[in-house]
Amino acid sequence: MDLVYNILVALHLLGMAAVVGGWIAVRSGRTVIAPIVWGARAQLVTGLLLVGIASAITDDDHTVDNTKIAVKLVIALGVLAAAEIGAARGRKGRDTGPLLDVAGGAAVANVLVAALW
Ligand code: HEM
Repeated sequence: MDLVYNILVALHLLGMAAVVGGWIAVRSGRTVIAPIVWGARAQLVTGLLLVGIASAITDDDHTVDNTKIAVKLVIALGVLAAAEIGAARGRKGRDTGPLLDVAGGAAVANVLVAALW
């Protein structure tokens, strides 16, 4: 189970890299590129799986802070909504407004919550 958990942590970090790295890479281009959207989806799925496994393991290494996770979940849903809507607008050739920066900035906020809480 630890191997599965650690692989999920790796995927969780790669999803974060796709969102934050993608954001930094395209900031001047103003488009929500596909890796940002897929990264945001991956964060939700891998994050929920991590919580599920961590809740099932009863040692001290895998404790779950429900308040912190709830905050991360809300922020992650914001990241995903901004990325999905921004990408859909981009496909239609419409202006994405602040959605790119909302997705990238909120993802950075979630990194800070993950690391500093
Ligand atoms: C944009 C969305 C997200 C970002 C950028 C993000 C970022 C991160 C980062 C950087 C870590 C590593 C922190 C560390 O090891 O100190 C982490 C860990 C974790 N995240 Fe997220 N996260 C996101 C969404 C979520 C969601 C939606 C959930 C669950 C509902 C979640 C659950 C977790 C859990 C359980 C860990 C602990 C893994 C461990 O055991 O080290 N995350 N997250």
